[in-house]
Amino acid sequence: MTTSNPIPYSATPSEVLSIQHSARQVAIKVITNILLEHGSLSTQLARHQTDVANEHIPLLKELCFGVCRQYPTLNSVALSLLAHPFEEKDTDLYATLLLGLYQLTYMNTPDHAAVHETVEACRLLKKDWATKLMNAVLRRYQREEHEILDNLSSMPSIEYNQPKWLVKRINKHWPDDLEQIIEASNTHPPMCIRVNESRVSRETYQKMLKDKGIESEIGKFSTSALYLQTAVRVSQLPDFEEGFASVQDEAAQLSAHILSPKPGEKILDACAAPGGKTGHLLERGNNSENKGVELTAVELEPWRMEKIESNLERLGYSAHLICADAGDLDAWWEGEQYDKILLDVPCSATGVIRRNPDIKINRKPADINELIVIQREILTQVWKTLKPGGFMLYATCSLMPEENEQQVHQFLEAQSDANEVKLNTLNNDAKIEWGTEVSHGRQMFPTLESHDGFYYCLLQKTST
Ligand SMILES: C[S@@+](CC[C@H](N)C(=O)[O-])C[C@H]1O[C@@H](n2cnc3c(N)ncnc32)[C@H](O)[C@@H]1O
Repeated sequence: MTTSNPIPYSATPSEVLSIQHSARQVAIKVITNILLEHGSLSTQLARHQTDVANEHIPLLKELCFGVCRQYPTLNSVALSLLAHPFEEKDTDLYATLLLGLYQLTYMNTPDHAAVHETVEACRLLKKDWATKLMNAVLRRYQREEHEILDNLSSMPSIEYNQPKWLVKRINKHWPDDLEQIIEASNTHPPMCIRVNESRVSRETYQKMLKDKGIESEIGKFSTSALYLQTAVRVSQLPDFEEGFASVQDEAAQLSAHILSPKPGEKILDACAAPGGKTGHLLERGNNSENKGVELTAVELEPWRMEKIESNLERLGYSAHLICADAGDLDAWWEGEQYDKILLDVPCSATGVIRRNPDIKINRKPADINELIVIQREILTQVWKTLKPGGFMLYATCSLMPEENEQQVHQFLEAQSDANEVKLNTLNNDAKIEWGTEVSHGRQMFPTLESHDGFYYCLLQKTST
């Protein structure tokens, strides 16, 4: 067989443009996939943000996060404007409409540009038949925006900008905290970083930030937390690549403070990706002679496992990484028990909606029932890997008692060798009260300018 030499080929400027799609086109793809339940916002963005030029990534994120954050309102408005909802095969058109409405309502895009580009997007989707409809719907919204929003304003989905079922559930469990939870869940979270205290003190790092013109405030609960006054790119953080700091919410930072790992201890991080807490456990478990904990991290999803690897590489630590179902002990456990276990189970993430606003689109009440079963199975199985006398920290970023205190209650009822330990007893340097004491463990609610919603319960296995 003969082969001819490949002819060097350089794309014309218009071809380059057609490869690098506009932020709007990619946003349509991302929102369509979320609406069709083909993945979360974070996975979709990770997959598709390479399709736009670097300088357009902030716009892409603004459009996608914005539509998800405002979805309950945008969805009610869109449905009120359409005589018939779009068919499933035209979900891309629905995503296009939501993006157009988002720009008209929440962005500074001039109205005529928002309408024009949204109509053009129908052509790019090769659905020219929809251009007239899109134009008519958006122009009507332009004319009647205030009236339409006023008419819909008493709907819980618009009043709270959250799914109706979720407002009902939060109100049922936390009536006194409803307004605060909703307000905090609807805002942009503050940027909180975790200083790697094994490398540099929080005070020193705060000075290093200040020298770069980055103002910050210390967190009240975690000794490693700093809140930045204004969010910055991680590349702007001093010595970020050298592992001096990581981006992590303050409530999430408490897990390593509570478990308080000591050099030489054998520790399991059972649902570990993306490895935020894995890294923190290693930072806290390492002493000045560079003796550390022996850490095993188990994670179900291979692609998320890669995130743990890159996180640990940046921080300069290593751990035994296993890709497996933590609840399937035969698949991964070699029989040696652990001194301490962090069990940060998959959950409804209702405490971190502001970071994962696609929850407003896709989370359903039935998911919580499924998650409870998964959590119970993982908890029951992983418990067997804990040494007598050892500690397990059960954690979720959920606000639902079914996943938290009730889950622990059932576990304690069924497990005669398990006791609850009052929180903070392991870590004497963090005496400040955080969260609300519930029947088992402590519940934290998301707050406007501080931490996310989280739940922790510390358990100990009886010695014999
Ligand atoms: C709440 S996240 C953990 C966050 C992590 N601890 C951190 O701080 O970065 C839950 C993780 O558990 C993983 N997971 C879900 N089911 C699992 C299972 N059966 N076994 C192990 N990991 C699981 C999910 O893929 C997800 O990465």
